[in-house]
Amino acid sequence: RPLDINIELPDEQAAQKIKIGIDFATWWALNVVFNIYNKKVLNAFPYPWLTSTLSLACGSLMMLISWASRVADAPKTDFEFWKTLFPVAVAHTIGHVAATVSMSKVAVSFTHIIKSGEPAFSVLVSRFLLGETFPLPVYLSLAPIIGGCGLAAVTELNFNMTGFMGAMISNLAFVFRNIFSKKGMKGNSVSGMNYYACLSMLSLLILTPFAIAMEGPQVWAAGWQNALAQIGPNFAWWVAAQSIFYHLYNQVSYMSLDQISPLTFSIGNTMKRISVIISSIIIFHTPVQPVNALGAAIAILGTFLYSQAKQ
Ligand code: 3PG
Repeated sequence: RPLDINIELPDEQAAQKIKIGIDFATWWALNVVFNIYNKKVLNAFPYPWLTSTLSLACGSLMMLISWASRVADAPKTDFEFWKTLFPVAVAHTIGHVAATVSMSKVAVSFTHIIKSGEPAFSVLVSRFLLGETFPLPVYLSLAPIIGGCGLAAVTELNFNMTGFMGAMISNLAFVFRNIFSKKGMKGNSVSGMNYYACLSMLSLLILTPFAIAMEGPQVWAAGWQNALAQIGPNFAWWVAAQSIFYHLYNQVSYMSLDQISPLTFSIGNTMKRISVIISSIIIFHTPVQPVNALGAAIAILGTFLYSQAKQ
């Protein structure tokens, strides 16, 4: 067996950096498009449980077709794989539906400002539930994250408690998803792309009965007619776009997770939020007060300090 020493030549390092750069840019672009169409859909059709289910259904279907047509190789999985995936899928489902409920109630930018506080949740969960300790600078970096998110929340013009809590629950759920999926992805031979495909399918199974119970076909049918009357046939394309782009951005992020450290990933995720916050404010003409923007900037600066401190 060759030695486990990975000596990269400068050319390989440069090529690797370029590849990560392209992956990140693709991830952010897909995510911006998802967020815009998702909000356009939710404005006309305020049923986040159905739209989150459709996103998962669309991704699952895309992957089943890719496997059946051999565009992608289907993974070889066993019962153990699905058992390990189950808690990841529960956390993914909760995080996804909670973020979508949040975005149905508040501006996209507000949801993402609160979601930029995810590192704080990660540290608190690791500290209090897993007993992990961190160097002092890591704890100190939480002050601007929590303070900045708090300032942005209290100065948010269209504050809504469900919107705020949805983003907070999403943060908590995604911390657990990352903890569980770190265990699940380690040591199995399923690629990042297929891992996310299986995650979508299992999440879809988990979410569907809850979506029916929370909203249900009658409400959806009436809402759909209403949205079609308001927007016209383009509405169906918006739903398709939000669903397809949801799958694609997650797929790209899981594919790049295969090659980068969780830390690099979380820096990429924060930068992704900056692109979403800025583009959604421009597109939806979201009113922003200077002190509100200051809160967001402090929170985001905090997440960068956090990544430096963790390094
Ligand atoms: C979702 O619907 O799952 C959220 O928008 C996810 O947000 P994130 O992938 O940016 O954390």
